[in-house]
Amino acid sequence: MRYEQLGRTGIRVSKIGLGTWQFGASYWGWGKEIDEGEAISIIRRALELGINFIDTAEIYGWGRSERVIGKALSQVDREEVVIATKVFPYRVTVSGVLKALRNSLRRLNTSYVDLYQIHWPSPIFPLKGALRALERELEEGRIRAIGVSNFSLKQMEEARSYLQRHDLASNQIEYNLLKRDPERDLIPHCRREGITIIAYSPLAQGLLTGKYGPGRIPKGLQRRLNIWHLYGRIDWTVVERLKELAKRKGGGTGPAQLALAWVIREKGVVAIPGAKSLEQLQENAEAAEMELSDKDLSFLEVP
Ligand SMILES: NC(=O)c1ccc[n+]([C@@H]2O[C@H](COP(=O)([O-])OP(=O)(O)OC[C@H]3O[C@@H](n4cnc5c(N)ncnc54)[C@H](OP(=O)(O)O)[C@@H]3O)[C@@H](O)[C@H]2O)c1
Repeated sequence: MRYEQLGRTGIRVSKIGLGTWQFGASYWGWGKEIDEGEAISIIRRALELGINFIDTAEIYGWGRSERVIGKALSQVDREEVVIATKVFPYRVTVSGVLKALRNSLRRLNTSYVDLYQIHWPSPIFPLKGALRALERELEEGRIRAIGVSNFSLKQMEEARSYLQRHDLASNQIEYNLLKRDPERDLIPHCRREGITIIAYSPLAQGLLTGKYGPGRIPKGLQRRLNIWHLYGRIDWTVVERLKELAKRKGGGTGPAQLALAWVIREKGVVAIPGAKSLEQLQENAEAAEMELSDKDLSFLEVP
């Protein structure tokens, strides 16, 4: 596993983390394709594989994801794990945000969260007051770093301007081979400023794994809505290239691994793929060891 610093915090996170939206959400197959026992095995195995960075949110499965993580980590050295969670912006008061943090701590069964993120920008969210309150929480040790998610460059700079004594550690955004617009301004800016990009949906929710194609997309209303909403018309050329490159590399290399290796190819970007089985987890963790050559990278550039 490879690691890098989260923002300028001194917190070390694995280049491949574990996303846990899948844990507790029925539209991801919770209770059918995956259950609590499997989720706990995935989290524990992730730690064995060197994945120390686990991302969740109060909204995932309405708290179930955080609870499962709390259970999985009950017999683990807390300091070995970096837990990131998020507050959903339906919290319209500062006290509401602080209450959300307390509730997350309780569900996660921990006295601190390593990274506390604002899930989405929103005009109803008390951004300035909340960020300043979170600075106090940081100083009192209930959180170790503050981050945002889905913030544009402008929104992120606005958030930074409200912080008085600390900086944002990260911005969690959708970034993958089918969603590259953050490369225009956000990623270069964050790299200059020492803010880590946490790439979510690095596999485009499974589309980049090679198991889907035109007319063959994931089942389930929520995922369909996500994918079609996010990508409109999907260009499958890049998926074909991933498959071809995987074949050329051989040795069991899969398209998903190459897609992840592509996301984390440079410093300043880490990825948090979700995994619904130990096999997926293993494959994703191995991507951290893969190097893509300049030739590989240009092959994956689809005009
Ligand atoms: N901040 C935000 O607003 C936001 C939004 C979305 C996600 N996130 C976070 O980012 C994490 C990851 O994003 P995501 O879950 O949207 O998408 P993703 O990581 O791109 O895709 C995850 C899905 O792809 C499939 N998969 C994973 N590894 C695979 C492999 N090696 N081979 C084949 N299939 C594989 C699995 O689904 P199937 O087996 O069902 O195909 C898995 O559930 C989430 O868990 C969450 O923590 C954050």
